[in-house]
Amino acid sequence: MKPIGPLMWEHRLIEKMVHIFNREIKRISELNKINTIFIESAVDFFRTYADRTHHGKEEDILFRALAKKNLSPEHDRIMKELVDEHIHARKTVGKLFEANTKYFMGDDNSSQEVLRCLKALSDLYPRHIEKEDRHFFFPILDYFTKREQDAMLQEFWDFDRNMIHEKYKILVDQYEREK
Ligand SMILES: [Fe+2]
Ligand SMILES: [Fe+2]
Repeated sequence: MKPIGPLMWEHRLIEKMVHIFNREIKRISELNKINTIFIESAVDFFRTYADRTHHGKEEDILFRALAKKNLSPEHDRIMKELVDEHIHARKTVGKLFEANTKYFMGDDNSSQEVLRCLKALSDLYPRHIEKEDRHFFFPILDYFTKREQDAMLQEFWDFDRNMIHEKYKILVDQYEREK
């Protein structure tokens, strides 16, 4: 299997979440009510899965390895755009979390900010994923030998294996600090 395989599978799950976002956007627009529990779990999905696990493998393994290669100006430009989009997504998820918390505390006006963040993410992710799937992942494989690709795939599996442990260690550490 090529190392981009797991990344592309992960894109399919992120797309499903974005699809659910579109359903939620419609519901909020009609009822002007936020399902704060849904938003909280969506924030967790984007932080733990889309960002830490998925963007983590892209940035910490794939892009880092690519940065050592002699990239064409086009591939170099696309990689920088992808990193900027990750940063933008991360910031938007942070704003979504804040707006959802404010709404939960009774600030009804925050529903508009929740809506704006959901729309921003559902606009960004399909374009971002298409750029990676159709214009980046396949051509950049040519920079790597078969041996390098196999080693990268193994690095991806090892990275994933740590994720669940990392997530719950952070959770326990947070609660421990509160005592
Ligand atoms: Fe990405
Ligand atoms: Fe991606």
